[in-house]
Amino acid sequence: MSKSIRVSLLGLGTVGSGVMRILSDHAGMIERRAGSQFDIRHIAVRDLGKQRGVKVDPKLMTTDWKAAATAPDVDVVVELMGGTTAAKDAVLAALRAGKHVVTANKALLATCGDEVFNTAREAGVCVAFEAAVAGGIPIIATLGTSMTGNVVESLEAILNGTTNFILSEMFSKRRAYGDVLAEAQKLGYAEADPTMDIDGTDAAQKLTLLTQLAFGKKIETSEFLRQGINTLELADMLYADELGYRVKLLAMTRLIGKHLEMHVEPTLIRRNRALARTDGAINIVELRGDAVGRLIVSGPGAGEMPTASAVVADLVDFAIGRTQLTFPRLEIWNNDSPLTVLPAEQIERRYYLRFNVEDKPHVIADIADVLGRQEISLASVIQHESPEQSAAAAAATGGGVTIVPLVIMTHRTTEGRIRAAEAEFRRLSCVRSPHIRMPVAD
Ligand code: NAP
Ligand code: HSE
Repeated sequence: MSKSIRVSLLGLGTVGSGVMRILSDHAGMIERRAGSQFDIRHIAVRDLGKQRGVKVDPKLMTTDWKAAATAPDVDVVVELMGGTTAAKDAVLAALRAGKHVVTANKALLATCGDEVFNTAREAGVCVAFEAAVAGGIPIIATLGTSMTGNVVESLEAILNGTTNFILSEMFSKRRAYGDVLAEAQKLGYAEADPTMDIDGTDAAQKLTLLTQLAFGKKIETSEFLRQGINTLELADMLYADELGYRVKLLAMTRLIGKHLEMHVEPTLIRRNRALARTDGAINIVELRGDAVGRLIVSGPGAGEMPTASAVVADLVDFAIGRTQLTFPRLEIWNNDSPLTVLPAEQIERRYYLRFNVEDKPHVIADIADVLGRQEISLASVIQHESPEQSAAAAAATGGGVTIVPLVIMTHRTTEGRIRAAEAEFRRLSCVRSPHIRMPVAD
């Protein structure tokens, strides 16, 4: 007879329901692979009266997450409540009570990871968090075990399913931003507060975790550039397409000498790259290791079943003792890294700029002059022909100036020079603010 692993499940929302579904639909297979049965002893939720998408024994349900996290009859606590308040207290209480913890909570690990991991070490237990980054993709396992013979040179990734779904739907189906966001929420991709997805916070938290695992250095999200998709318009995706690119919320860390270049920003990515062809709620991570070369892992990055798949894999890893071997050896314990974040001004790349400008003489010359003085070279310029205004129409509008879009792609320059140019653009009366600026990843 196989042994029984007793589990408290904190949270029965999107991911928690998926976990219950997998454990019940594939009970026999999982028992064979884990050599153990998973026995759910407690399920903590906020609202006992809520209709649930999965069948659970009502006797297991409680609103007392603290009791569920520390119950003496439990070996592993699975935290799927989200957030950094009750979830943090629950995880710390569970660890102090000697329970192993599985969590999908990147917000918690990105903001309080040191405290959580150190508490686990002091208590002699482990934390597994495959589901916290890129949903169903085994990226923690890839970095924590399969890449251990490599110096990781770069990591480029799409880490947020909600924003990738929004950008893909807006571009391919010309759907409105608000409609697609509502659908992403309905499909269970978005965070409880979708601002975390839209403004790039969620992707930045995941990048912090991956960077720690890949490069052995914890970088706080406040230390690197982060921009969300909220200022983007369909027009930018169409101009990018015309230039041979797709727009994606790209998360990137690159090793440059003793520095890490790190940012999360909407970025133009050349159309033939796998990153550019990754659509919907799919996530992708492209790694470069000095031994293995380029490695790409891709798959569903959000949603009930893909995320639950990673949670169940973590449970099985506890059952067979794999996590107990790998957790103490992860790069999260590296305290000697000499790496520091490359100052933003020194980041070098190409840029896409879109201005709304007055359609009158000398405008392009003024803009080119600003760029030229910052030693920024133009790679291409798009200004589509606007209808010629008749003398009568001009007179009727009081001779008002037409505003037209102007798109410029630059050659390689630095973030510092682009910022200096932008300060000057704000002083040009022919340029209406705000303008759009995105980096380019060739
Ligand atoms: P969710 O659907 O909002 O579910 C949260 C669950 O936690 C609900 O069952 C809720 O109870 C319960 N809960 C919240 N606060 C509680 C409290 N104070 N006391 C007791 N129960 C509480 O969230 P989710 O989408 O499943 O996400 C869970 C975690 O997984 C988050 O950390 C999220 O970032 C992460 N994650 C989610 C996805 C995804 O695609 N959804 C993917 C990867 C990682 P009620 O049901 O009664 O409200
Ligand atoms: N809200 C997250 C996303 C869930 O859209 O990617 C997966 O972490």
